[in-house]
Amino acid sequence: MGIYSSESLQELRDKIDLVEVVGSNIDLKRAGAHYKACCPFHNEKTPSFVIQRGDSHYHCFGCGAHGDAIAFMMSYLKMSFTEAVETLAERFGVRLDTVDQKEAPKGPRPSQLKETLNKIGEFFHFYLLYTDEGQSALTYLYKRGLDLDFIKSFNIGFAPRGDAPFFAICKELKLSAELLEKSGLIKRRDDGKVRPFFIERITFPICDAFGNIIGFSGRKLNEDGFGPKYINTPETPIFKKSKTLIGLKECRRRIAKEKRVIVVEGQIDAFRLIQAGFNFTVAACGTAFGESHVHELVNLGVTHAFLAFDGDDAGKEAASKVGNLLQKEGVEVSIIEMEKGLDPDTLLRKEGPPAFVAAMENAREYLRFLVSYEGERVNFDSPAGKNEVVRSIVARIRKWTHPLMVHEGLKKLAQICQVPESVIDPKQGNAPRVYVKQSDSARGNHIDPDRILEVDLLRWVLLVGQNNKEIPKLAFSNLKEDDFFVAPCRRIFATCNELFEKNDVLDLLTIASNLSDAEQQQFLAEILQKRINPERARECLAETMQKILERNWMHRREEIKLKIQSGTLSEDQVLELAKEFDAIKARRPKVEV
Ligand code: UTP
Ligand code: MN
Repeated sequence: MGIYSSESLQELRDKIDLVEVVGSNIDLKRAGAHYKACCPFHNEKTPSFVIQRGDSHYHCFGCGAHGDAIAFMMSYLKMSFTEAVETLAERFGVRLDTVDQKEAPKGPRPSQLKETLNKIGEFFHFYLLYTDEGQSALTYLYKRGLDLDFIKSFNIGFAPRGDAPFFAICKELKLSAELLEKSGLIKRRDDGKVRPFFIERITFPICDAFGNIIGFSGRKLNEDGFGPKYINTPETPIFKKSKTLIGLKECRRRIAKEKRVIVVEGQIDAFRLIQAGFNFTVAACGTAFGESHVHELVNLGVTHAFLAFDGDDAGKEAASKVGNLLQKEGVEVSIIEMEKGLDPDTLLRKEGPPAFVAAMENAREYLRFLVSYEGERVNFDSPAGKNEVVRSIVARIRKWTHPLMVHEGLKKLAQICQVPESVIDPKQGNAPRVYVKQSDSARGNHIDPDRILEVDLLRWVLLVGQNNKEIPKLAFSNLKEDDFFVAPCRRIFATCNELFEKNDVLDLLTIASNLSDAEQQQFLAEILQKRINPERARECLAETMQKILERNWMHRREEIKLKIQSGTLSEDQVLELAKEFDAIKARRPKVEV
């Protein structure tokens, strides 16, 4: 993330208009000196969600939800802390200055790249709708059953065959070659000449979750034209293919709310489903759906995924692989099997949305799908064939991360294959009781238990503390700054404590702007990245605090032991230390709740 100067965060804090932020997401009614709404965080018929005019916090008198604009974006729109800060900064026109970053950012800023892409997006869209050349592309889209409404809502465009119109518009808009190149919109040929990235292609904007264009996918108009069917603009600082999910802009809210998602292969599939009301659909773009995409979905809270891939061999193989990635991370998977030659786009076009609803209802549990898919390759009726299938699936299930998924998966497999459970034996080789989560490939650094423990504690305080003051109170009464071993955690804890005593609130932006260095801000963002279940806050907080206190208790004893064993002390000193050791040992710490 960017490391922001405290001045710019302070400025952001001053400029944010909470009523505007909340009001653009839910229906706020003015009532005297305050605004009211039905609370978006619990079900209710009469409004008890209130914002006082001029106040920077909302409060719900029904469920106790409480927080600032950042907290609202994080809990309502399921943004990460960084996403929330950046979105608000953009909205309220605050320039976030970054400080002491290791690599000074060179070249255009992300907002300039987005602006460039948005402008070119408008140009492509215009070119499709209002030029003679665009007509043929428009006719093609209509023939595929994609109507004007569709074209407008997904901002589809057309990139002309010749260079001239593209470069003319760039000149008019004063878009420099550097900007265009860094946005991925032009490419430099070997002979040094510059060409538009897309030539005679239908363009689909690829957006981030907030609707900014970060890249394009271009489909060739003529099947026998030059190059692959689809090409995407290259990766840039704002466009990371392994993380980008097409459709998230339209679907983020519903996915987070319903905790379920439909995953499809093609972007046209995704858009068609979204338009038909299945606005919880995503597709990967250009690259295969991979681990980082799974993490994006898990971070949104997804627990159930429907895979609707093409009805061909490649589609089945993809379902087998992607299904495993999701199950592995604890997401339940159902496979929507398409008839040969169909994909969600063609199914919807031919038979309409009810057919897709039926297909979802008939979706097969992942393991059932897998057994029949693997079974196709061998003679499943022969003991040897069955053995091979069962063994390969058991091996796959044992690699899943969540012990419960492994246990249930093996049981279900036995049932599906009609073999006794003892043959599969969920007990033997069961996943370890305490599992170490394989870290994202991005940060493969070693695991530091102190850091995990302390970050965990801060996460409860910061995330639940927004809504429930009891939680930070509990933490501050049981722990002191010195109880933290990890420096940035200690600093964040101290800052929170100070601010809480002063203002009786935990305000994320204030906390961030009070952290003096880059590492601490990085930490804060990391802490706030994960989601938690607020209902278990008290219990989990108490448990984590107990662990920290006991760790420190053991640590102190260990220190004394080492001193005694060092052999450098006089007998009196040793005796003194031994007394201290016993005294500490007798005082096992206990969290007070
Ligand atoms: P499909 O070939 O199933 O595309 O590839 P589709 O969406 O059904 O395309 P239409 O209906 O013929 O227009 C699935 C996805 O794989 C990527 C694209 O993201 C596509 O949507 N793909 C496919 C490429 O990146 N390059 C290609 O050449 C083909
Ligand atoms: Mn397809």
